[in-house]
Parts: sequence; C-alpha cells; structure tokens
Amino acid sequence: MSDRTHQIEDADRLDEHGSRIIIEIDGVSVAVLNVNGEYHTIPTVCPHVGGPLGEGALAGQATIDECGEIGYDDTEEVIECPWHTRRFDVTTGENADASCFQIPTFDTWEENGEIYVAL
Ligand code: FES
Repeated sequence: MSDRTHQIEDADRLDEHGSRIIIEIDGVSVAVLNVNGEYHTIPTVCPHVGGPLGEGALAGQATIDECGEIGYDDTEEVIECPWHTRRFDVTTGENADASCFQIPTFDTWEENGEIYVAL
C-alpha cells in the first residue's frame, strides 16, 4: 500500500447499497459509497459552485443505444448534487449531463474485510 492509502474506520456502516460515509482524509472531504456492493470515493464538494455533492441521491441514468433508442439504466451509479441537480457517475467522475464539469474519483477497495481509499 502507498503512503496515500487510508483505511476507512466504521466500514461496517457501508454494508448495503446506497450507504455512505463522509469523512476527511488529509484535509480532503470525501464521500465513500457502497454502490451495488462496490465501493467508490468522490469529493463531497460539487465542482459547479460548491454544493454538498456527497449528500446527493444516487440514481440511474438515461441511455441512447447505437440505433438512437432511448432507455434507462437503473444501476444507481450516478449521484445528483442537491443544489442544481448536476449528476456525476461515481465510477468515472464524468458528468452524466454532458456539461463541462467532472469530479475526481479515488481508488477504493475491500481487503480482508477492511475498506481502503487511495488519494
Ligand atoms: S453546486 Fe452542484 S450543481 Fe450547482
């Protein structure tokens, strides 16, 4: 593990889909989320104008296939900022609404029952 790896305390609070912990690591406020049994870490502050992104609701997202068919992927991997509803994919950090905003994501994994984040 690198110097930038941190073990998450209270990892048992991340035991089900949609659960989250908001913590500060080395002065960086992050939200660690359980999304369908996978762990993801994002900043808690929205890049738009500083809204509480880490407190946003998880949702799925609209899709368009190669034939132009519009659908909906109900895999809740998108977090919506409570202030102006910009949405970000927690797995990639990409904006789900095709705007210029993007967020960083931090590697997060489970090992021997513990959860680690690398900033
Ligand atoms: S502050 Fe998050 S969308 Fe505006």
